[in-house]
Amino acid sequence: LQVRSEVVAFSVPSYACQRRIALDHHNTVLADALSLLAENAELSDEDGRGVAFRRAAAVLKALPRQVTSMAQLKGLPCLGGHSLRVIKDVLDNGASDEVESTKRSERYKALKVLTGIFGVGAKTAARWISEGIHTLQQLQASGHTLNRAQQAGLEHYDDLNQPVTKAEADAIGEIVEKAVVSVLPGAQVTLTGGFRRGKLAGHDVDFLITHPEEGREEGLMPKVVSWLVKQGFLLYQKTTRNSYLESKDGPAQPPSNIDRFERCFSIFKLEKQATKQAEMPEDSCSFGTGGLCRRPAGHKPWRAVRVDLVVSPVSQFAFALLGWTGSKLFERELRRWAGYEKAMSLSSHALYDNNQGRYLRAASEEEIFAHLGLEYIPPSERNA
Ligand code: GTP
Ligand code: MN
Ligand code: MN
Repeated sequence: LQVRSEVVAFSVPSYACQRRIALDHHNTVLADALSLLAENAELSDEDGRGVAFRRAAAVLKALPRQVTSMAQLKGLPCLGGHSLRVIKDVLDNGASDEVESTKRSERYKALKVLTGIFGVGAKTAARWISEGIHTLQQLQASGHTLNRAQQAGLEHYDDLNQPVTKAEADAIGEIVEKAVVSVLPGAQVTLTGGFRRGKLAGHDVDFLITHPEEGREEGLMPKVVSWLVKQGFLLYQKTTRNSYLESKDGPAQPPSNIDRFERCFSIFKLEKQATKQAEMPEDSCSFGTGGLCRRPAGHKPWRAVRVDLVVSPVSQFAFALLGWTGSKLFERELRRWAGYEKAMSLSSHALYDNNQGRYLRAASEEEIFAHLGLEYIPPSERNA
């Protein structure tokens, strides 16, 4: 109401799911600095610290103008001492020492290279680093037995570390659509993940599949996958069965981001003619991704792309759509809001009201936001 000094402090609601965060915002330098520290924490298996930095970055992304002084940040939520030190460093010196030294550190670089292999998480990478393995060459020389996912990840390393474009996502969408309607006419495919939020590039492509008649979607995934295999579209796939059972006494499983839909982690073989080859020259090779370039990437007429497929019964579709659209922080904040502020349990399957002792149905994302007492935020503004 009143302006007491020349500096007007910004104001932002506590939960990221209460804010509209578009892809473009006014504080990319600061948010990038904090996001790098978040990534480093996650790669170091320190999820608590990772979330703290992600939350701080999401506050900066929501501000209506560029931050120019620390005074503007007074009273903002989610900005802990560590994040404030990083912000001050960037405002005073143009960069944060901690961020710059993290980027240069051998450990961070090795974690990036090794977790860049599909199927390798922070724990496995840390174990290898403790054995002195920092590069793909050292990993190959070590004689470690890799699982099927990791073998595929290594084989397609350069392709999988090159961002997927929207044009490529659309080309894969057409293939998935064709596969799905071939095995089950009337089934519907929806692009989710970062591309649904309007991103122009991503690390993979995410699709949600359903059928308007409840139950018709059962057993759909294996049929879709075998159609794709027969047509030669899959370089790798791992399908897991649906294991979700709604219980009458409440959430069958503790709500978490691990869901129980029929799903398939895959690597697609995408013909290059299928998309417009705008920026990438034919013989280019991504040297930046760990320095291993077994074979120039441009000399084959296709590229490997990570694709996630999920099948949902139509009764759970709105929850699945909300859960698979992201961002990851936005999802986490929705669940935190539901639990702490509303005594509800939100998952990608359902919303359970602990006070009423019953599930709340929803046929659209809008209805879920309404159940949660939140203003509706469209996908393009869920980029927390
Ligand atoms: P990029 O792929 O990096 O462009 O970003 P993205 O936002 O699409 O990330 P990602 O593909 O990793 O995940 C998309 C959404 O699906 C995010 O909101 C995740 O939280 C969600 N997600 C990923 N894995 C799972 C899972 O196993 N279960 C559930 N319920 N959601 C998941
Ligand atoms: Mn994605
Ligand atoms: Mn994904």
